[in-house]
Parts: sequence; C-alpha cells; structure tokens
Amino acid sequence: MTGRLAVAALVLMTACAPRAADVPPNATEPDAAHVALAETIVPDDPDLAAIYDRSCRTCHALPGLGAPLAGDSAAWEARRAERGDDGLLASVKSGRNAMPALGYCPDCTDEEFKALIAFMSTEGEQ
Ligand code: HEC
Repeated sequence: MTGRLAVAALVLMTACAPRAADVPPNATEPDAAHVALAETIVPDDPDLAAIYDRSCRTCHALPGLGAPLAGDSAAWEARRAERGDDGLLASVKSGRNAMPALGYCPDCTDEEFKALIAFMSTEGEQ
C-alpha cells in the first residue's frame, strides 16, 4: 500500500515538472556574455542610436522576454534563415507575438527599421 502511494506521489510530481512544451517556442537562452553585451551596445550613428534607445532597446537588450538580443547574431541568424530580411522587416511592421507592431517606433521608415535590424543582428564587439 505504501509502495503504491509512493508511486502515485512520484507520478504526480513528474506531472508537475516543467515540460519542454511549456517553454515558448521563441524563447532563446542567451549566455551571460551576450546578456552583458546587449546591455551596453548602441548603434554608432547618433540618430539611429537615439531611435534604438527609445524603442527596440526596451526589449532587445533584456533577456527573458523572448526577443533576440542585440549583438547575438546566432539568435538572429535562425530567424533570418526562416523568414529572410523581408520577413524580419514585415515582423516588426506588423508585430509578432510579444512585439507590438512598429516596435515602439511609429515614425520609423523601412530604411531605419532595416538599419536597426542590421545593427541588432550583427555580433557586437566584446
Ligand atoms: C515591447 C518589446 C519589443 C520592442 C519595443 C521591440 N521588439 Fe522586436 N521583438 C520583441 C520580441 C518579444 C520578439 C520575438 C517575437 C517572437 O518571435 O516571438 C521580437 C522579435 C523581433 C524581430 C524578429 C522577428 C522575426 O520574424 O523573427 C525583429 C526583426 C525585431 N524584433 C525588430 C525590432 C525593431 C527594429 C525594434 C525597434 C524599432 C523592435 N524590434 C522593438 C520585442 C520587442
């Protein structure tokens, strides 16, 4: 009887353990170096840096939101491979999951979005 209870308890505990399916499909697990990098880098161009600072940076410099981090080129490459540059541009314009349409930059041009994506998807200086 005790043995059966133990088995039942074990089954229940296993059922409560996090499963792979609980992890959002777009969550990336950046390493500490990439987290630190994302916190510090900004585009060289001062105008682009100002836009980045008030929009994309809000989410793309923070781990845990599911956004590919600025400077983490591997995370961006996987997305580019799937959707191409046009697909990435379309995602920011129309929004994607937790990213609102236009990524907090309602007045950005396509050129500015492309430059911001190029900046974020390039491996930064370490
Ligand atoms: C409010 C948070 C937030 C802001 C602000 C934001 N993003 Fe995002 N972004 C995300 C999240 C979250 C994802 C991952 C979405 C997903 O695939 O689930 C993402 C993904 C992306 C992608 C990849 C889309 C794809 O198709 O895989 C691009 C490109 C992108 N963001 C560009 C930008 C740009 C450019 C800006 C600034 C103008 C910006 N984002 C601002 C949260 C944000």
